[in-house]
Amino acid sequence: MDASKLLAGFEQRYGTSSAPVRFFHAPGRVNLIGEHIDYNGGYVLPAALEFGTTLIIREREDQCIRLATTNFEYQLDIELDALAEAKQDQWTDYPIGVMNQLEQSARGLTRGYELLFHGDIPNGAGLSSSASLEVVTAYALLTMEGHSIDRTDIAVLSQRAENQFVGVNCGIMDQFAVSQGKLDHAILLMCDTLEYTHVPFQTEGYCLIIGNTNKRRGLVDSKYNERRAQCDEAVRALQATYPHMTLLAQLTAEQFEAAADTIADDIVRARAAHVIAEHDRVKQSVEALKNNDLIRFGELMNASHDSLRDLYEVSCNELDIMVEEARHIEGTLGSRMTGAGFGGCTVSLVREGDAEQFVAQVGSAYEQQTGLHPEFYICRVGDGVREIKPSIQTATIGEEW
Ligand code: GLA
Repeated sequence: MDASKLLAGFEQRYGTSSAPVRFFHAPGRVNLIGEHIDYNGGYVLPAALEFGTTLIIREREDQCIRLATTNFEYQLDIELDALAEAKQDQWTDYPIGVMNQLEQSARGLTRGYELLFHGDIPNGAGLSSSASLEVVTAYALLTMEGHSIDRTDIAVLSQRAENQFVGVNCGIMDQFAVSQGKLDHAILLMCDTLEYTHVPFQTEGYCLIIGNTNKRRGLVDSKYNERRAQCDEAVRALQATYPHMTLLAQLTAEQFEAAADTIADDIVRARAAHVIAEHDRVKQSVEALKNNDLIRFGELMNASHDSLRDLYEVSCNELDIMVEEARHIEGTLGSRMTGAGFGGCTVSLVREGDAEQFVAQVGSAYEQQTGLHPEFYICRVGDGVREIKPSIQTATIGEEW
């Protein structure tokens, strides 16, 4: 992100004013392990990335909210009292959803603002560009309005904005990771209670490589909702044995084994089996990371992918090919799909010395088999949402984006 260029773009759109501009940044996220566990009430282990969404914001003297982004043409000017009705089926639904949530929690905006966003997370790749957009909006507006900052509260209100205003029934993991991320740490989050700890993610000699299949994630919302419904169905069946359970991740592997037969439908039983085993893998992963046992962690990543492919059935041909090719590289300890699935990205743990070969070899084999051109990001785990004070070179007003 070039702050000078962003400021120039801001002033080109909104002009200059005596009010100061402020910069905020929220990352994207990658989930290391614990997939499709958040809405089942268990542990997940995501991490914030170094790339994300930057927001430049300035207050106005009137009641107008002006929204624009460098990523899409669409922009919107809207009065504060029209926010509740401002759903446009556009990217602006994310920040406006957040503004409505602030209003509902008695922290409604007291004045207008000019906002310009710039995202460098590839869109639709499953790296949480939407959570990043929501969280940066919430953090910036709470700061501008002089409210206290509670990162868990920001995650929860951003998730609500997505559930209620945008209309996507996601869990809490993405917004939480974007909000609570910490440099060189993964976040171990218990999704039922929102208790969390930062787990050091030091992978001496190894790096994380995110592989973007560039396969558009088709039908992801409907399939996602179908998986959620199947988990609910599994809970209802298991309640015959465990009347007090409300979420799948409340059962241990042994408890599940003992009652799995009460789930009549084979597919629903397979979905539940994934959740139970994946939840166990998250706990084992944390142990492995504590013991610096990256080989074990890699094995767990591999097992996670295989379960998402065979039991939960949220992978796709493109993800499977990329994972298979990644595993052919000698320095790969583990490789799996990350996020909701049906396209998007893989994450692999790879020996640093083999990263270049990984990108070249996996890239060409993938392209040959799918006809799609992939992208790879060798990434470090970054910090959560924050205000930033970039050094601004002379802004060249009028420069084109
Ligand atoms: C998407 C959702 C998350 C989570 C993952 C799957 O990213 O937004 O809440 O359910 O899928 O782990």
